[in-house]
Amino acid sequence: MNQKRILFDTDPGIDDSLAILLALASPELKVEGVSVVHGNCSVDQALTNALGVLELAQASHIPVARGFELPLVQPSLLAPETHGEGGVGYAKLRTPKTKPVAQHSVDFLIERIMSAPGEITLVCIGPLTNVAVAIRKEPRLIKAVKEVVIMGGAIRHEGNTTPLAEFNVYVDPHASHMVYHSGMPITLVPLDVTYHCILTPDDVQHLQKIKSPIPTFVADATRFYMEFHDEYQQIKGCIINDALALALTFAPELCDYEDHYVEVDITGGVSMGKTMADFYKLTKQPANMKVALGVRARDFIELFVERVEKLSESIPG
Ligand code: RIB
Ligand code: CA
Repeated sequence: MNQKRILFDTDPGIDDSLAILLALASPELKVEGVSVVHGNCSVDQALTNALGVLELAQASHIPVARGFELPLVQPSLLAPETHGEGGVGYAKLRTPKTKPVAQHSVDFLIERIMSAPGEITLVCIGPLTNVAVAIRKEPRLIKAVKEVVIMGGAIRHEGNTTPLAEFNVYVDPHASHMVYHSGMPITLVPLDVTYHCILTPDDVQHLQKIKSPIPTFVADATRFYMEFHDEYQQIKGCIINDALALALTFAPELCDYEDHYVEVDITGGVSMGKTMADFYKLTKQPANMKVALGVRARDFIELFVERVEKLSESIPG
């Protein structure tokens, strides 16, 4: 099978961790590397979690790079209420033995993508600080990257961080603005589709029959995440945003897409970080991305559970 080569830029993070596990469980993909960024937790906590999740899944050969700890302009905003102080809910990851690469994420992303023009799919599932600086430092990245799948934004859907804005965009709206207008081949995966993708307690319970550290991690991480969703949004389960974005790299048919010109509000008022699509072509601007606006949510959740089940069976203990 001709594997799709992917690079993550991520703020693990509970749903980020599930996206990484899904990638490792998917034979269609080759995970070339993981770049971490501030967001759900500090960049150092995200680094520890990325190394820890890869070790948990016996994938510590995959290089990990440390990125920015602060947004470009905005003050730092982390999400301990959503992902816990340690960034992975109630889960306890072993202190990782592996070390990150010496390079900063920006240089890591540039080197990996420029070494294989047209080959690498960049999966962005956190704030876009690293990616924004990378395209400024090496503009050739824009043409060299094969495709960019971005979990972020809320088009018709309400925000999850302000009434209008989604977390990854709101944390660093200036970075999102730079990336969204960069000309890279972007597929945006907004809350409009991810909010239909609810992992339920029954889905998690189904995995527990397998004796493996993976289902235990999923259960402990998502228990915290489900408590958050119940308390703040009365949702029975948890929204696994990032795992859906990752799944579209090998199963794009899970969503329906429209080409749109999408703008990010950086004017600094009440709608800071709001993402809006020009559905009626009023700006006369050409589309700058493909936007996922429909989803076969239950098909995705069943795919996720089935693949994590297989991964768990391969890592007994
Ligand atoms: O709004 C959801 C996004 O913000 C996800 O990527 C989640 O991990 C958080 O980073
Ligand atoms: Ca994330």
